[in-house]
This record gives sequence, C-alpha cells and structure tokens, in this order.
Amino acid sequence: MTSAAGQNRSSRIAGFHKKTPRERLDLVAAFAGLNETAVAHLANMGNLDPALADKLIENVIGTMNVPVGVATNMKIDGEDVLVPMATEESSVVAAVCNAARQNYETGFSTSVSGNLMIAQVQAVEVRDPAAARLRILERRDEIKAACDACDPVLVSLGGGFRDLEVRLLDTPSGTMVITHLIVDTRDAMGANAVNTMAEKLAPAIAGWAQGRVYLRILSNLADRRLARAHAVWRTADIGGEQVRDGIVSAYQFAAADPYRAATHNKGIMNGISAVVLATGNDTRAVEAGAHAYAARSGRYTSLTTYEVNADGDLSAAIELPLAVGLIGGATKVHPTARASLAILGVSTAERLARIIAAVGLAQNFSALKALATTGIQKGHMALHAQNIAMMAGAVGEEVDKVARILVERASVRMDVAAKVLEEVRGG
Ligand code: MEV
Repeated sequence: MTSAAGQNRSSRIAGFHKKTPRERLDLVAAFAGLNETAVAHLANMGNLDPALADKLIENVIGTMNVPVGVATNMKIDGEDVLVPMATEESSVVAAVCNAARQNYETGFSTSVSGNLMIAQVQAVEVRDPAAARLRILERRDEIKAACDACDPVLVSLGGGFRDLEVRLLDTPSGTMVITHLIVDTRDAMGANAVNTMAEKLAPAIAGWAQGRVYLRILSNLADRRLARAHAVWRTADIGGEQVRDGIVSAYQFAAADPYRAATHNKGIMNGISAVVLATGNDTRAVEAGAHAYAARSGRYTSLTTYEVNADGDLSAAIELPLAVGLIGGATKVHPTARASLAILGVSTAERLARIIAAVGLAQNFSALKALATTGIQKGHMALHAQNIAMMAGAVGEEVDKVARILVERASVRMDVAAKVLEEVRGG
C-alpha cells in the first residue's frame, strides 16, 4: 500500500486541521503513496457519518470499524441481559457466552460503591504543608458551594460535591499538598465535570495553601466508583472437581505473581473494554483505573478471586473501578454507542458498570477454565484458521472448508492454507 510514496514527504501540512476529511485523505494518500483501493477504503466511513466523525476527533481521514458481537446467556441480578461487545479479538464474545451458559440458573449478583469521581489539585512550594492542609479542609463549605456552582444541572440531578480530602505527598522537590475534590457525577463519566471544578477551585486553593498550583485533573484511579460482581459455578456444571481446583489454582497463581496477574487481568479487560467501547465510553480511563486498583496494595495482583464455597462449588468475585457514563463523550452522539445502550436497556451509569463487572468476571472464568483444562489454543485456532483461510484467498464457503481442514491437520499456516485451497478448488 505504501510502495509508491509521493515526492513531497513533509509532515508539516499547513491548515491540515481546517480541511475536510476527503481533502486530508488526498493529502495523506499523496504523502504515503496510497493506492486507489486504500484510499477508497478509508473514504468509506461505514455507518459513522463523516461529519460526526470529523467532530469527534481532529484531523479525521477515515474510521476503523471493529465488529460488535452480542454476549448471550447473561443473567445479572435476576434479569436477562444481551451485552454488545466491540472487539477485534476472536473468542472474547464466545468466552462470555460460555461462562454465562454454565451458571445461567443463578447468574451474577452485582453492586457498586457509588458514582464518586476524584479531581486532584496539586499545590507545590508550600512552606507549611501540614497547616496548609488544615487551612484547605476548613474551607469545605466554600469549596462545596464553588464546585456545585460549576454544574447546576448535575446538582439538579442529585449529583455534585460530596467530600474533600487533602493529602501530603513527599517528593524530591518537597512536600506537595494534594487536594481531592470528591464529586458525585451521577450518569456522567464525569471527567468534564470534575476537571472544570478543579480548574475553578485551583486559584483559591493556591491562596489557602500559600503555594503554587500546577495540575488540576481527575484521577483515573476511581476507587470511590467501584463495581462488583460475584457468581457461583456449580462444580457439576463445569466438569468436576479437577476443573474447579484448576481454576482456583490459576487464580492463586495470578494473586501471587504480577507476571501472571498482568495476563489474567488482560483477559478480564478483553471483556470489560469491549463493552466500554461498544457503549462509547473511555476504554483507556477504565483500563488505567483497573490496573492501578490491581496494584493498590503496592504489589500488582488479580482483580478477581476464586474460592470453593461450603457446597463445594466455585465462588468467584470481581471488584474494580468502573468510571463509565451514559451521557457525555461519545456515549450520546455515536450511533453505535446509543444502539448498544438500547440493547443493554440501561437507564443509569451504575447499572452499566454492574453489567460490565459481570462481563469481566465471565470472561475471566472462561479463560481460566480453558487454561486449566484444554488450553486456549484449541478454541483460538478454529477462528484463527478462518483468518488464515481468508488471507490465503478463500472466499464464501471455501473459508469454513479450508479452516476445518487446517484444524484437522493441526497445521494452521498460510502455506498449508494455500495448498488446501487448491485442493478444495480442485474438488
Ligand atoms: C488472551 O487475550 C487472554 C488470556 O491470555 C487471559 C488469561 O491468560 O487469563 C487468555
């Protein structure tokens, strides 16, 4: 695609941001020597209105379509739910369906700790940090009024300032005075709301601290916005005691070892990020929060736990920060996000967070079960084989035929796929 790169290879393109997506695309095509197929592909923005895409981010030239699958079998707090998941990774949706099929009778129970977001205001060069902390805490009523005045709509919806915290942080350049504004952001993810409050309050905080304020920004470690889900899988339904004990052992491995915990939690985020993305929420915010929470003890560990309960069944739980919203960002304006929220039938951010936590647990259960038994390659290979078949040129019914033969021969490789395709075509 990039073989015939253009003559003018300068990345300094005057007024690039002011151009239309098509004009930008032509400039990029000339720069990179894109062929017509690539240009036509990027120009086709699928089901996202180019005018909307151009408003969502800067310098738009195209869109990146990711499949949206739906996880079935989920029963959450007694209610059946269909869960849209946007992901490019095979097996992720199937994993949730499989986990939920095996505990459909009892399903998942969920809860949240609240909708509280934290904004941080960093004050430096404070001569008397301990006293400064108290000077700020004494202004609680004033701070509450100023925060609430920033967002009367939020207050009318039952949200607004809830709490104040001032922490002293030892750093190489002295003790910093870090003020936390704790705000109930209701059905918004809340970044805009709390950032506005932090910026508004910063000059006053600098004055009370008698120092200088630098950063004024939310914390993605949203540990006052935890979502929780727990579930029981009956030992008889998951293949017996050996499978159950293998899953517990897999969890204990992740709990004890950050190398394993990173992969364990990555699997959890396969499910979580897919729902976060499908609903137009901020995947990076949720991922940052999840991993920071996993390291809250000072050692990175598992976001889930597994135990054998009094009945001898597998009892599993997950708890993590889930800062997601139903308003703001892409959630309200992206048509796929809106449709995903309609499929979920959620009317509060809290319910969305609870569903997402349950999906994370389901995802993790399936991964651990596969890893503790057959391994994940068997399931992955069937789907991978289809990709390889397509890459080798298979079309229509040929894709399944070639993929099946590749799996049967336990040889999912491009060179083998090309030979198999010839055999299939030769009859
Ligand atoms: C792959 O995307 C996710 C897994 O590695 C998760 C895990 O190991 O628990 C299968």
